[in-house]
Amino acid sequence: MKNSIVIGMQWGDEGKGKCVDVLSSKVDAVIRYQGGANAGHTVIIGKKKVILHLLPTGILQNKISIIGNDVVVDIEDLVNEINQIKKHGFSAKNLIISSRSHILFPTHKIIDNAKEQKRKNKLGTTKSGIGPAYIDKYGRKGIRTADMLNKKQFEEKISAFINLFNKYEADYYGVKKVNKVKFVKDMMILRNKLHKYVMDISIVAKDLIDKNKTILFEGAQGVLLDIDFGTYPFVTSSHTIAPYAFCGSGIPVLSDYQVIGILKAYTTRVGKGPFPTRLTDREDQVLRKKGNEFGAKTGRARNCGWLDLFATKYAAFLNGTDKLIMTKIDILADMDTVKVCTGYRLNGKLLRSFPADTDMLDKIKPVYKTMNGWSKKDIDNLKKGIFAKSIKDYIKLTEKFTGAKIMMLSTGPSRKDIVFIEKI
Ligand code: IMP
Repeated sequence: MKNSIVIGMQWGDEGKGKCVDVLSSKVDAVIRYQGGANAGHTVIIGKKKVILHLLPTGILQNKISIIGNDVVVDIEDLVNEINQIKKHGFSAKNLIISSRSHILFPTHKIIDNAKEQKRKNKLGTTKSGIGPAYIDKYGRKGIRTADMLNKKQFEEKISAFINLFNKYEADYYGVKKVNKVKFVKDMMILRNKLHKYVMDISIVAKDLIDKNKTILFEGAQGVLLDIDFGTYPFVTSSHTIAPYAFCGSGIPVLSDYQVIGILKAYTTRVGKGPFPTRLTDREDQVLRKKGNEFGAKTGRARNCGWLDLFATKYAAFLNGTDKLIMTKIDILADMDTVKVCTGYRLNGKLLRSFPADTDMLDKIKPVYKTMNGWSKKDIDNLKKGIFAKSIKDYIKLTEKFTGAKIMMLSTGPSRKDIVFIEKI
């Protein structure tokens, strides 16, 4: 397999965890390059269900697994997650944390929560502290994992960090001050468990490239949640798009790589923000139940809607998407017809591109194409390589809009539920 950047083509929750797990069996290293523990990448292996928030999914295939510089590392969650995978019988020995990555502290979560509660127009964040951690990073007052390599220096920095929180931020956000002695002690315990994984990844990066190893960049969230290109302000605080993979990981732009977009056969969105193809409440509930559309991180109910090929076309262009993996096609089985959004109309006129003005998205009317549905039997046949005409048409239309080839279809939650259209 080629070097690959794997990204979500919608608002996250496309099934990236499972796809990266399958793809990572064929690569040497997997790198998470943005976001943090707001992600929830679910992998089902036999009877085991593992949900990864920070660890690169390649860890479950024993691949070199790197947490890149643009990930905001929740050290509390990371320790829990390492314990979780060990309980499931996996090892963290191949984990590397870039020493340039920033630490997300419990206080970032407190601030995220407080800000969200105070907002009149809620953003619907995952309350994982993502926004506040990136604010500290770009405000140049963050603490990086590199600081964990020097015990005394780390202790001094977190001491100063919590002093600032107690002196200014706690009052400003109307939250309780934090017990400094306990905070420092707790963070030092976490530091002692994690510092062995922290290193300057430039040496590892050079080695991977010199030895012609294959790298998979594992994106989190989805294109429409990108800080610049998503439905701002209802977005996350990092760049989720493929071009950012190199910046967020410290790997130079490679001469040979492909972008693989993960696209759910319908659309979901969790949290707030516009959602043009959202179903009516009753239909929404049916699809949510069938697809088990509840957040892997927060357990929140995801809203459901038809496949939005107009938005997907925008995502495909931005990412230079070469290939697609369509997930959850089985969930749409046994509907007589399915709808696909092929354009947006505003005041009677068709839009030429996905609008930057998020308010406009609340006013547009989606243009739908109604297509024939498929049955559960058709899904069983897919696994034998027999493609029903309706499925073929659905694939063809998606490929026409995106200019990307569908390389795989996912027909269920397990590692085995994959139909390969192309060999990997
Ligand atoms: P934050 O990233 O927690 O700040 O949340 C900002 C927005 O991104 C909210 O609408 C969240 O629901 C959404 N979001 C963040 N991470 C994910 C994800 O992994 N899947 C789906 N939505 C997400």
